[in-house]
Amino acid sequence: MLAKIISGAISGVNGYIVEVEVDISQGMPAFEIVGLPDSAVKESRERVRTAIKNCGHEFPVKRICVNLAPADVRKEGPAFDLPIAVGILACMGALPYGAVKDKFFSGELSLDGAARPVNGMLPMVCGARDAGRKVCVVPYENAGEASLVAGVTVIGVRNIAELVGHFLGSPIAPAKFEAPRETADEHASPLRQDFVDVRGQENVKRALLVAAAGSHNVLMIGPPGSGKTMMAKCMPGILPDLTFEESMEVTKIYSVAGLLRNKNSLITVRPFRAPHHTASYTALTGGGRIPRPGEISLAHNGVLFLDELPEFQRQSLEVMRQPLEERQVTISRVNGTAVYPAGFMLMASMNPCPCGHYGSSDKCGCTQNEISKYLNKISGPLLDRIDLQVEAAAVKYGDFVKNPRAETSARMKARVVEAHALQSRRYANDGIRYNSQLTSGLIERYCVLGNEQRGILRQAFDRLGLSARAYHKILKVARTVADLDGEEHITPKNLMEAVSYRSLDRKYWG
Ligand SMILES: Nc1ncnc2c1ncn2[C@@H]1O[C@H](COP(=O)(O)OP(=O)(O)O)[C@@H](O)[C@H]1O
Ligand SMILES: [Mg+2]
Ligand SMILES: [Zn+2]
Repeated sequence: MLAKIISGAISGVNGYIVEVEVDISQGMPAFEIVGLPDSAVKESRERVRTAIKNCGHEFPVKRICVNLAPADVRKEGPAFDLPIAVGILACMGALPYGAVKDKFFSGELSLDGAARPVNGMLPMVCGARDAGRKVCVVPYENAGEASLVAGVTVIGVRNIAELVGHFLGSPIAPAKFEAPRETADEHASPLRQDFVDVRGQENVKRALLVAAAGSHNVLMIGPPGSGKTMMAKCMPGILPDLTFEESMEVTKIYSVAGLLRNKNSLITVRPFRAPHHTASYTALTGGGRIPRPGEISLAHNGVLFLDELPEFQRQSLEVMRQPLEERQVTISRVNGTAVYPAGFMLMASMNPCPCGHYGSSDKCGCTQNEISKYLNKISGPLLDRIDLQVEAAAVKYGDFVKNPRAETSARMKARVVEAHALQSRRYANDGIRYNSQLTSGLIERYCVLGNEQRGILRQAFDRLGLSARAYHKILKVARTVADLDGEEHITPKNLMEAVSYRSLDRKYWG
């Protein structure tokens, strides 16, 4: 008998349907899987055989052939265990084929027949829904994320026995999406830093506010101990929660990366990723034998913080250039490519020279050569993609007197939330979310300049020797400054502030 069971696989963060055909015929006992399976799929045979036996079912002593269609794409991972087992049980008459043949199945099996969660369930169930499946049967621990998909009934099973029981008269209640309990305690964590506790550095705080408001890339330069890392840690406190649409995008990536489990089935907190500079190239950009999203994708719709930027491998930094432009990353693989979203805001920090005290002649003993070598780890093209550069000065004794006008993170967050809302209204029909994403066409529409403003820009250009890309960056940042200040049009003051965030190019790299 031949049974066709619907299952799924993922490419990048998109799910697609895979048909699992199970044929059982008389002949020499054998168990074969064809259709470009990788080794994890081949090992499926042992898991399925043992799992079925250990659940009290007879394993057929016959010729079993499993074909995974379409046969021309490589199938990875253990997610076909469950559909293969269902196909075999249907062929043997242990499951009613009529009841299982139009449903979607995915999951790994352990030897005792327990259903184990697999990565990428959310996009797979989305793919199944788009292909017209109405019911998805998945491991219990994947049911939370699967239930985020509107329009499908999700049945979460703990093991084969429950699955068989579900189709033979003891149905399992469909999984319901439960909104995650507010992670309030996380926000109240004592480790969390607040901008109000940062002394001095008003210019840096302002730049970070602008960056968060318009999702602009930002670089902080300053001596050790000036509070760069501290201020980066404050950043999550001023980032608004994700919109539902953004949440779904982020949750799909975490699903593929295997970082979701039932508890936090929908990610609503904006990602803030801070990989160490020793992180491998693959960990940062993604890839691997079974491809996984890297840090730049896990930071999608959020912030990627690279502390001590020049310490990162140059190769890792250069590869950021594509995602910084295209908001996605393409990973080359033996068979084809995988594309992951990577629309992150880059936040970086660095010292101005190897010792960190550049500019204070009594402390800095670095030679010009050493300094150039250090700064040149950041290439011009990468620097060009950073919208705001800001200098964190050494903290002076006087700074430690508390500034009564210093803003709390809560206040700053309220302003960022407002700016985000304004941008999403303005760009509702333009296919972008933030000022940093403005294309040159949209810049002309939304960053209209008067004569005085154009004069300022021309001067800045001559003085700072800016590139065309920098020109557009200045206008986008000026748009955000205007939004924060409640200006409909970019004022000369807004523009001058935006220009000031480019002046370090000249000072350090000029
Ligand atoms: N501007 C500041 N206001 C308050 N404390 C600061 C400031 N700068 C540094 N500190 C203190 O010094 C510590 C080290 O600062 P850090 O953020 O690691 O500096 P950097 O990353 O610039 O080398 C911080 O944890 C904080 O306790
Ligand atoms: Mg630091
Ligand atoms: Zn130095």
